[in-house]
Amino acid sequence: MPYVTESNLTDIARERWSNIPDPRLREIMAALITHIHAFVREIEPTEAEWASAIDWLTRTGKMCTEKRQEFILFSDVLGVSMLVDAINHRLASRATPTTVEGPFHIHGSPQFADGADMAKDAPGIPCFVAGVVRDLDGKPVEGATLDVWQTDGEGLYEAQRDVDGPWVRGVFRTQADGSFLIRTVAPVGYTIPMDGTVGELMQRTKISHYRPAHIHFAVEAPGYHRIVTHLFQRGDRYLDTDVVYGVKAPLIVDFKQVPGGKAPNGETLSSPFYLVHYDFVLQKTAIAKAA
Ligand code: BEZ
Ligand code: FE
Repeated sequence: MPYVTESNLTDIARERWSNIPDPRLREIMAALITHIHAFVREIEPTEAEWASAIDWLTRTGKMCTEKRQEFILFSDVLGVSMLVDAINHRLASRATPTTVEGPFHIHGSPQFADGADMAKDAPGIPCFVAGVVRDLDGKPVEGATLDVWQTDGEGLYEAQRDVDGPWVRGVFRTQADGSFLIRTVAPVGYTIPMDGTVGELMQRTKISHYRPAHIHFAVEAPGYHRIVTHLFQRGDRYLDTDVVYGVKAPLIVDFKQVPGGKAPNGETLSSPFYLVHYDFVLQKTAIAKAA
């Protein structure tokens, strides 16, 4: 083996890391070495800069707990989470597109009847989200589940509140005609957590650290591709600068303000509320070819 020089080091490292029986890991490590060496060759870090990068990564790792994942946030703000999402959900253009899941989903949300209120005592303007889950041919999908989570009207998720019970999240099911109706409160835009290492990095930029108001949905039904997505409020000032690149045009919807009166679930409200309509379109999962 030749001794290393600045010019031959990448090839030598690639050759050594080709000695991996698992072909996928071999492919990944070859690409990693190629790109990380190219990155270092391009930026030519000083030793102090490299040590500072390692220190930042170390502190990022130390920040991660069961409730907080700073590395996912880093992946989100670099647009990598959305790229991984796009690669893994190449759906027909008529299907509802997916977007980033984010760190605030909680498993095991309570099940609600059609039209029930998942916001209970949470602050915010009442909001009714209605629609139909359909397939690509327009056929309603009965019994699809919609796992829904969002901020309350003050921009806070359950994980950011000191509450015991579930907070503005719930699971709904579509009726025989594919319809669903959710009573909630209108979400508001919010900043991503800025008290960690990602915030420290963002503070050194002029990049907005806000997300536009949105409601998260995970929609699934047997035989269909599961989607994780959001609905965004049309007109929100952060739509064009979403810090995690999550906005897609078909996911922007009107939040129609109503002065009060009869709501879609039969209640009569004396104060203003919002009406949102959205039909989710699911794509069938590919049928595996017989051997
Ligand atoms: C969210 O939408 O909940 C979210 C997504 C990425 C980073 C932070 C929050
Ligand atoms: Fe969110």
